[in-house]
Amino acid sequence: MRPAPLVLSVSDLLPAERGPRLDEALARFTITPILAPGPEFEEVYAFLDAEFGPKNELEAKATLSGWLGRHGAVDGLFVAYHLLACRDADGALAGARDCFVIRRGDGPWVVLLSHVLIGPAWRRSGLGALLRAAPVALLRAAGAQDDEERVLAAEQELIDPADEASIVRQLAYGRAGFSALNPQVFPYAQPDFRPHDVAAADPKPVPMMLTLRRLGLESATEAPAALAWAVLDAFDVIHGEHCLPGDLAARRALAEVWCRDPVPMMRFDPSQPEAAAPLLRAATLPLLPRRLGGTEGAPVGTIDDACAALRARWSA
Ligand SMILES: CC(C)(COP(=O)(O)OP(=O)(O)OC[C@H]1O[C@@H](n2cnc3c(N)ncnc32)[C@H](O)[C@@H]1OP(=O)(O)O)[C@@H](O)C(=O)NCCC(=O)NCCS
Repeated sequence: MRPAPLVLSVSDLLPAERGPRLDEALARFTITPILAPGPEFEEVYAFLDAEFGPKNELEAKATLSGWLGRHGAVDGLFVAYHLLACRDADGALAGARDCFVIRRGDGPWVVLLSHVLIGPAWRRSGLGALLRAAPVALLRAAGAQDDEERVLAAEQELIDPADEASIVRQLAYGRAGFSALNPQVFPYAQPDFRPHDVAAADPKPVPMMLTLRRLGLESATEAPAALAWAVLDAFDVIHGEHCLPGDLAARRALAEVWCRDPVPMMRFDPSQPEAAAPLLRAATLPLLPRRLGGTEGAPVGTIDDACAALRARWSA
């Protein structure tokens, strides 16, 4: 029997996300969990793989299928995996999202937002907002209470003026209440997802930033360092299951050196890029070691050129 569709609540989104388009999307799309391998899993994996596979940002199929249906606590660590398929009224696959709800003991609830993809034909249809509301519904289903610290956490690529998607992500997520941890204070790299023999010979972690929505605290401009570490711990739990320990150790070691408390959080406005310059590839890649995908001092264009290109393209 097909699992029941997810029930979403408009109140899980900030007012900026609400409106007639969201109401139409709620009536139009159906979001259903995938709980076991099978044809729907194959379809959704292929959909995600076409977007994220070439960037080495998708786990192996066997890894994802092994997580399906996972839900429960072991030694005080709660982990639930969710893979969601979103279908249009005619049944077409319009989008997909996967995420983990994680909590260690009575610490903060962390939803690790692994992937979200909306087919080009369905972009700006309201579906993006539905897929941003879904993790909040999943948190609630896991037992999270409104008065507990709850954070949605996504890994996102640093901003490259030539890569429009890297800017669209910031616009969409910023309006939805997400801000990035300053990667020059809390650096982050996604570990190498390739087979271990390939990754061990020449590790290629992907330098990124951690982008968070602190539920109920969306206007905060900083996060306690303890929260940043709780988020990193959550990513370590999942990445530790299929990535090389050296990748995890390398990013943690650098964060230990750079981290200060609290960690500044930034929202990116491409018409005023200087205000959040650390989110630019040009600003942060040269500071990162090659072991984390950085360039160790070698310039990646200039920050001024990046800001000028952004202002020229995105200023109204
Ligand atoms: C990121 C993604 C999920 C966003 O979904 P979307 O349907 O494209 O965009 P949304 O409806 O969520 O956009 C919300 C807001 O972001 C801004 N925005 C989105 N796309 C924009 C664009 N091309 N230009 C300018 N602003 C844009 C707008 O403010 C928009 O609100 P509006 O439509 O009311 O003006 C989608 O673009 C996608 O699948 N991208 C490829 C995969 C990806 O990057 N995944 C995220 C990995 S973390």
